[in-house]
Amino acid sequence: MEYLSNRQIVLAEELSGRLAERHFAVRVTPVRNRLPDEVLIRVIFAQVPPAARAVMTTTTPFPRTLPGDGIFTAVVGEVVDAPQGGPPPAAIVTCFGGWEQYTLAPVSQVREVPARQRLYEHLGLLGLNGLTAYFGVSSVGRADSGETVVVSAAAGGVGHLAGQIAQIAGARVIGITGSDAKNRLLVNELGFAAAVNRRSDTFTRELRDLCGNGIDVYFDNTGGPVLDTVLPLMAPYGRIVCCGATATYDSADDAVRAPGPRGIPQLVINNRLVIEGLLTSDFLDEWPAALERLARWAAEEQLVALTDLRDGLDAAPAALVAMLAGDNLGQMVVRIGPDPQPS
Ligand SMILES: NC(=O)c1ccc[n+]([C@@H]2O[C@H](COP(=O)([O-])OP(=O)(O)OC[C@H]3O[C@@H](n4cnc5c(N)ncnc54)[C@H](OP(=O)(O)O)[C@@H]3O)[C@@H](O)[C@H]2O)c1
Repeated sequence: MEYLSNRQIVLAEELSGRLAERHFAVRVTPVRNRLPDEVLIRVIFAQVPPAARAVMTTTTPFPRTLPGDGIFTAVVGEVVDAPQGGPPPAAIVTCFGGWEQYTLAPVSQVREVPARQRLYEHLGLLGLNGLTAYFGVSSVGRADSGETVVVSAAAGGVGHLAGQIAQIAGARVIGITGSDAKNRLLVNELGFAAAVNRRSDTFTRELRDLCGNGIDVYFDNTGGPVLDTVLPLMAPYGRIVCCGATATYDSADDAVRAPGPRGIPQLVINNRLVIEGLLTSDFLDEWPAALERLARWAAEEQLVALTDLRDGLDAAPAALVAMLAGDNLGQMVVRIGPDPQPS
């Protein structure tokens, strides 16, 4: 194997306070020899996930990122070398990797995907976030026709897809975001019935007025104060899908980071609510059917995927910092390498 050097972004120091670009460093090392069961992948696009921030400090099912470690994320790329029986050289694959030019991953965790014009869609619409939106709305939230569904971080990677999937199920969908411009887009271009700004002084009143008969399904991407606001507005037998807790990942405020929300258990008892955690990996057997359905909805233009594409490995830290401040529209992705040469 020819000599390859790997440029990667690592966590430079223990976090104190909110995440900033200074917490990251660039490291260049030789690509190590692959173990017999590993696939060597040239990374083309990497996701910018809020979970990358969560694993720097909070408890998640994933290993903690320590100073010197690479950044936890999903990637799509091209196979350079793989064991017998694995994907062939030049196949397009996704896996968990890092913000780096080359990733080594166990063959059992590498998924071959079709080559398509916009490869980054394997990280959004046809990747973990699309699947999360799909299973959160259909299997956990069980959103149904005529119901009121509220989605937080509704213009984000998971949220804008979850809101549209709930509309396909026939629900009336209300988005929550941190910006009026995002809200206009959700209503004018993605068919949301309404959208409210979580930063507005009138946020609670507006949401209450829009949900007069209560909220049947709350797709919660944020936790924190937004969940506190939504909980008392739930309808009897409502379902809360706990997908993510972005509000707590990077907060300097102990009250926000503390486990919540307020109102448990009484509000849950009063309204016979179900609050259920979602881990998309639980639905592995159903991924192929879900991916087929997501692709079909997109082809039929029932589902519009928004991508916030940033250019270059070095742009990744700033992209994550921006996302945690709400400065992303749709799925945030960075391009790390060029598309494969046409054969
Ligand atoms: N359970 C699973 O299997 C699974 C799988 C994938 C992702 N997730 C989770 O899904 C969630 C969404 O992920 P994503 O990649 O699509 O990210 P995203 O929603 O595109 O980006 C994060 C968004 O969170 C909002 N936000 C940031 N700080 C906030 C705060 N303090 N309070 C309320 N909202 C805040 C911002 O939107 P606004 O400013 O517009 O509100 C920001 O754009 C994350 O929590 C992620 O961890 C879960």
